[in-house]
Amino acid sequence: MVSEPPAATLAPAPATVPYSTASVTAPDDAASRARFVDWFRAVAPYIHAFKRKVFVIAFPGEMIQAGKLAQTVQDIALLRALGIRVVVVHGCRPQIEEQLRLRHRESRFHDGRRVTDDAALECVKEASGEIRLDIEAAFSQGLANTPMANADIRVMSGNFVTAKPVGVLGGVDFEHTGVVRKIAIDQIQLALNSRAVVLLSPLGFSPTGEAFNLSMEDVATSIAIALKAEKLIFLTEIPGIVDELGELTRELSERSAKALLDGGKLEADTAVYLRHCLRACEADVPRAHMIPFDIDGAALLEVFTHDGVGTMISRDDLEFLREAGPDDVGAILTLIEPLEADGTLVPRGRGVIERDISAFSIIEHDRRIFGCAALHPYPDQRMGEMACLTVVPEAQGLGDGERLLKHIEQRAREEGLTRLFVLTTRTAHWFLKRGFVQTSLDALPPEKQRAIDRSRNSQVYIKQL
Ligand SMILES: CC(C)(COP(=O)(O)OP(=O)(O)OC[C@H]1O[C@@H](n2cnc3c(N)ncnc32)[C@H](O)[C@@H]1OP(=O)(O)O)[C@@H](O)C(=O)NCCC(=O)NCCS
Repeated sequence: MVSEPPAATLAPAPATVPYSTASVTAPDDAASRARFVDWFRAVAPYIHAFKRKVFVIAFPGEMIQAGKLAQTVQDIALLRALGIRVVVVHGCRPQIEEQLRLRHRESRFHDGRRVTDDAALECVKEASGEIRLDIEAAFSQGLANTPMANADIRVMSGNFVTAKPVGVLGGVDFEHTGVVRKIAIDQIQLALNSRAVVLLSPLGFSPTGEAFNLSMEDVATSIAIALKAEKLIFLTEIPGIVDELGELTRELSERSAKALLDGGKLEADTAVYLRHCLRACEADVPRAHMIPFDIDGAALLEVFTHDGVGTMISRDDLEFLREAGPDDVGAILTLIEPLEADGTLVPRGRGVIERDISAFSIIEHDRRIFGCAALHPYPDQRMGEMACLTVVPEAQGLGDGERLLKHIEQRAREEGLTRLFVLTTRTAHWFLKRGFVQTSLDALPPEKQRAIDRSRNSQVYIKQL
């Protein structure tokens, strides 16, 4: 299991720290200084966790058209400076359309896929050549007083992708439209080892020397899988996955992603991105992200903050994290009894666990239960309590607690809850690090307030979902 490092729910960076000056002036009041240092330290676990990991970052031609290239390149340069190995894949659909228009040629699509005739292939080459140069130029900036100062980035491109033709589908000959057949992983690794950013266009070549028009999503996903990337990140023209109420879905498991796609209600563009994210996760890429490029610093926010700004699709380890059933009561009791005995958890007893078993989620591995947590909803207040969060001592510190918390958060969101609270006597700092803030008992649902054993002197922590 690969888990995200501990949460960095960031306090806002101090306003006195300028974004684009070469010499950052330290804030002059103590509170701002402390906030800046806290903020920086909160990001440290992510920096350590992602060092030398491969991120594949892909964006469509629409992002370049929207004038977001320079700032995206600055963010990617920062990721690289933090030791992340970055492969960039660009799209060029609107730029191809523009080229076709200039040549008075029609675009032809079938089943959402471009039919690339000879003229269209010329347009693809023209459009992607131009974009590639623009990206290389953007990575070459190094002006003082900009985030690119001292970046000194080399960009490497090449014939890393072997393609094969789509062929004839449903009676339609797709001509020069292709799909990825093979990736030159060793050569890409060499380039990444030399600290270069690898840049790939949506073009591939066949052993017969032909060029094929590929989809940016296919290239990015295939590369992420081949390189066993830590993350596949699509910077998208859409906000991510938005539910029927217009709320952003921040996290999706493979299983929920599959169900969404099968439901057939997604917009075509959203479905294309999601399908590729799912394909990556199914092939063992731990996480794939769809994040809107119109948010400034979207990639940084997604990577270095706990909740991110888009939708993250995570590999399922279904047998690993699941909802509890009646057969799990005994194992849960074994897990929590020592903590009830030492006062960490409120004593509940078998009867209560049996009654509430459907509230529990558990982490299981090789038929052994390693951790559990329960969600008790208070729908009237749109609040939920996370209770009994426990991980066996020998598995602590591996991210299972964090994983359980995220799962409970997701369950709470799915039940329409907007706040999650916990009562704790010894674990306050763990929750603080994960975006909870302390509150008073009065903030809890009246029903819960009446049931609390006040002699325990528990502290209440709450998190906005
Ligand atoms: C709290 C608990 C569930 C965390 O589970 P976990 O799988 O170890 O958590 P993670 O791996 O996601 O996080 C580990 C980090 O939390 C820290 N941590 C663990 N217990 C902590 C505590 N009581 N207070 C503050 N930080 C704590 C670890 O030091 C580690 O920090 P690091 O990553 O900087 O090294 C687990 O320690 C546990 O079962 N504790 C006993 C039961 C308990 O206190 N439950 C909460 C009831 S309100």
